[in-house]
Amino acid sequence: MEYQLLKSIFKSQKAPFAVLDMNALDENIQEIAKRAQGRNIRIATKSIRCRYVLNYILDKLPYSFGLMAFTIEEAIWLSELGFTNILLGYPTFEKDLINQVLSSEKHATSIYFMVDKLEHVELLNTIASKHKVHVNLCVDIDMSSTFPGIYFGVHRSAIKNATDLKILINSSTSFSNVKWKGLMGYEAQIAGIGDNFPSATFMNKIIGVLKSKSIKEIAERRSACLKVLADNSIHLDFVNGGGTGSIESTLKEVGITEITVGSGFYQSHLFDNYSNFKHKPALFYALRIVRKPTNTIFTALGGGFIASGATDASKQPQSFLPQGMKLIKNEGAGEVQTPFEYHGKEALKIGDLVFFRHAKAGELCERFNDLILVRENKIEQIVPTYRGEQKCFL
Ligand SMILES: Cc1ncc(COP(=O)(O)O)c(C=O)c1O
Repeated sequence: MEYQLLKSIFKSQKAPFAVLDMNALDENIQEIAKRAQGRNIRIATKSIRCRYVLNYILDKLPYSFGLMAFTIEEAIWLSELGFTNILLGYPTFEKDLINQVLSSEKHATSIYFMVDKLEHVELLNTIASKHKVHVNLCVDIDMSSTFPGIYFGVHRSAIKNATDLKILINSSTSFSNVKWKGLMGYEAQIAGIGDNFPSATFMNKIIGVLKSKSIKEIAERRSACLKVLADNSIHLDFVNGGGTGSIESTLKEVGITEITVGSGFYQSHLFDNYSNFKHKPALFYALRIVRKPTNTIFTALGGGFIASGATDASKQPQSFLPQGMKLIKNEGAGEVQTPFEYHGKEALKIGDLVFFRHAKAGELCERFNDLILVRENKIEQIVPTYRGEQKCFL
């Protein structure tokens, strides 16, 4: 998108606001479907956080296969709205909400619970037996790799290998109200770390080497885990893996039946520097310049949209349009005001809009009630985010 075009589309729009470029979203959906080569895609809702967009992507994807929700409350809401095949991506210990799911046939059949400890399985079994139903389980396998002096991955599941899985399965044999339905392994170190940063040839190389070693190791781990399940005559509905950054490598594994993708649809800026794909920036936000403290510094109203995770500069929003804006180190992406230096070609002035991109995909939706959808340089419609529907799950 061009700056002057954006300015003219939004000339009478109250700022700040968030924009979803539907042409870019369409291209990203197509490109992601191409990367997945006809395999099933499960949409990570945490990276979308807008009901309209979830439906839109599900409709457009040739092989969509349900959702990965991030809280049980969200999973219930989505199930009430008619979404099915909802994998709760993370374990829950909310007894009242588990009761709510398992007391409803609709929710109990739509929602898969994530487990990796006996405590999870035991609680779910107790509540399922009270309701005389079976509860659908998905077991999460840790997909991190350890190299000398480097922990390459995230700390989530307690199931580190096939032996741990075997112990969990064997210890659960007396739980007659659980059904093992899925296996998930999220290789965050492949899916969520870029390997193609500008001016970082040496670092890119190291990351590339670590990634290829890790890919080999986790494929063996996942396949050993699948063998444990087969040896126990457990037949799964799905084997899930990956994320936006690992579509290619995850799908190369024989046992995988589906891939989770979220961030690549909006293409937040943390996903810009990968050697295996390039998607289009689709979601961004606008602030209005209200001050000009020096000849080259402008200050816009609004700011502070820092992404979650370990706090470093990469979690800041990135200036988008016009080109030539640069955040100021001391104030970063601002608080209720964002100052920035400008050395670009536009004759910027007080009253003008400027555009930024968030580091993480769904999180921008927690700061705005609506997304303004733009197609072919026109506002197509305005749709509520989760926040706009008063849904604040995390
Ligand atoms: C369990 C799980 N699967 C998959 C993903 C990948 O999602 P995305 O494509 O948004 O990076 C994530 C992201 O953190 C995750 O936590």
